Amino acid sequence: MAMGKRALRLGVNIDHVATLRNARGGRHPDPLRAAGIAAAAGAHGITAHLREDRRHIRDEDIARLMRDIALPLNLEMAATPEMLAIALAHKPQAVCLVPEKRAEVTTEGGLDAVGGRDHLAPIVRWLGDAGIRVSLFIDPDTAQLDTARLLGAPVVELHTGAYCEAEGAARARELERLAAAAAYAETIGLECHAGHGLSYETVAPVAAIATIVELNIGHFLIGEAIFSGLDGAIRRMRALMDEARA
Ligand code: PXP
Repeated sequence: MAMGKRALRLGVNIDHVATLRNARGGRHPDPLRAAGIAAAAGAHGITAHLREDRRHIRDEDIARLMRDIALPLNLEMAATPEMLAIALAHKPQAVCLVPEKRAEVTTEGGLDAVGGRDHLAPIVRWLGDAGIRVSLFIDPDTAQLDTARLLGAPVVELHTGAYCEAEGAARARELERLAAAAAYAETIGLECHAGHGLSYETVAPVAAIATIVELNIGHFLIGEAIFSGLDGAIRRMRALMDEARA
């Protein structure tokens, strides 16, 4: 069956607006304001990671994002009873289950869906039963994809960190892994997203992978906003994505 090009969505991760706010303990800069700017600049969704230690996004941010922002919220969270209860209370449009270690600076690798299958199964089911679209943040690996499907998660988000960090031939190999995993995801009926570490320099080859339909990007955009403004940074990122997809 011939298929037209699929649209590519951008989810803007606003965690690090909250990081900056929390550095002084006040209310400025407000991640909600960033979400409003993202909406006006053409983002398709807002992504926020509520960590166990609340180092950036906090519970009241989630409540406010649900109440005041029209864009769908993709809540990134660890697969813990505490986070499950929060997700079920707020019912965001989407939840992305991520691995989380207290000491890490950022999410270092994908979720081990294979090893954590028994633990993940009821959480994926409860979230799905509540009408929340569940995705698993995994490395581009066939066994992880197969397990996501077995668990009944409709979506996977491929971890692009290794691709972004690699250089030269190693980066090309990581891109190949992403492309192969995205193609495989489609053959087993999974919607495929990608994210982590993407920048103006690294986004285009990932955006060109036709079976990836959403990118989640945060740290680079918030950092770039210092120099060019958040609106301009998001518009430029969207233009690079659209160009690569076309
Ligand atoms: N996707 C997931 C699942 C993540 O955990 C993160 C980081 O919080 C991102 C995307 C965005 O990564 P970055 O902030 O490096 O763009």
